[in-house]
Amino acid sequence: MVAPPTSPNEVAPLAAHEQRDETPVIGTRFLSKDTQLAHFLTAPNSDQLFADLAKLVAERGVVFFPSQEIHIDQMKQVMYRLGEHSGRPKESGLHKHPLTEDSSELGAEVSVISSEKGLGFAEYYKSTRSSSGWHTDITFEKVPSDYSMLKIHTLPGVGGDTLWASGYDAYDRLSPAFQKFLEGLTAVHNADFFNQYAKKIGIPIQQLRGNPANAGEDLTAVHPVIRTHPVTGFKTLFVNRSFTKSIVELSKDESDTLLEYLFRHIAENHILQVRYRWEKNDIALWDNRSTFHTATFDYESTRIGDRVVGIGEKPYFDAASKGRREALGLPSVHRVRA
Ligand SMILES: [Fe+2]
Repeated sequence: MVAPPTSPNEVAPLAAHEQRDETPVIGTRFLSKDTQLAHFLTAPNSDQLFADLAKLVAERGVVFFPSQEIHIDQMKQVMYRLGEHSGRPKESGLHKHPLTEDSSELGAEVSVISSEKGLGFAEYYKSTRSSSGWHTDITFEKVPSDYSMLKIHTLPGVGGDTLWASGYDAYDRLSPAFQKFLEGLTAVHNADFFNQYAKKIGIPIQQLRGNPANAGEDLTAVHPVIRTHPVTGFKTLFVNRSFTKSIVELSKDESDTLLEYLFRHIAENHILQVRYRWEKNDIALWDNRSTFHTATFDYESTRIGDRVVGIGEKPYFDAASKGRREALGLPSVHRVRA
């Protein structure tokens, strides 16, 4: 139950809304349909609600809201407000996907995630292994995303779950010597396949994508392999199978081997994952700085949702920052082998 409001537009403090953690390291679910994100926008305590929400998503990786009554403009406003209250640089706004045209149905700042139309590039993820789709949104941008938000409004009867994995825990589960090695490295992220796809279907690449640095047709960026999260201060692993192509400081053989190890470390570690079964109009709100996610293409009927993506800051590594477990005083999961 949500605590009773004290004035007409009042929304109880975030911590008072019934919620539960889905796993120890990632995922928190709000349980009541009375918790409506749209109400956060007009509440007298709106600033505090968004500050607390930005912090919660940064800490827990992904947060789920059941049965949301919210329209596209309000979803965009939520994304703006999250940025305002989490130190988003003033040059950063909402992302426009390279394949989304300004003339698109809902505007270029909304990606229609659809099994029938919209971006339609799922064919690029075809593989015999469903785990091949693990990624973090738009890491090919020079200034990538802070938060993403997806509402699924049309669902198959069963199937179409989404899985997320924790970058904090992926870092924490590497041995200290390996962590130290990775902390000196940077990686190339690239999405040339969007350029190829745009040519194939005859549309232009969106030229300006939520930050002046995310411009033109060069969909390549170099980011630290371990980055520091600006809100929590925790170290997190920041490579993903869809967009990370090579490690700058290593030979091709070394780079291929290391990246394959790290991609498997994410995909095969269900201890650091959460799986969400959608209900109609649920919203998932996640942090792209410290999580990975993947869709599940196991359904035959229609699945459609609207996604809004915020642009954050240029990723950086602060050598003085700590892993999540160390910062929270939790015991290390690493055991020295005898
Ligand atoms: Fe995604």
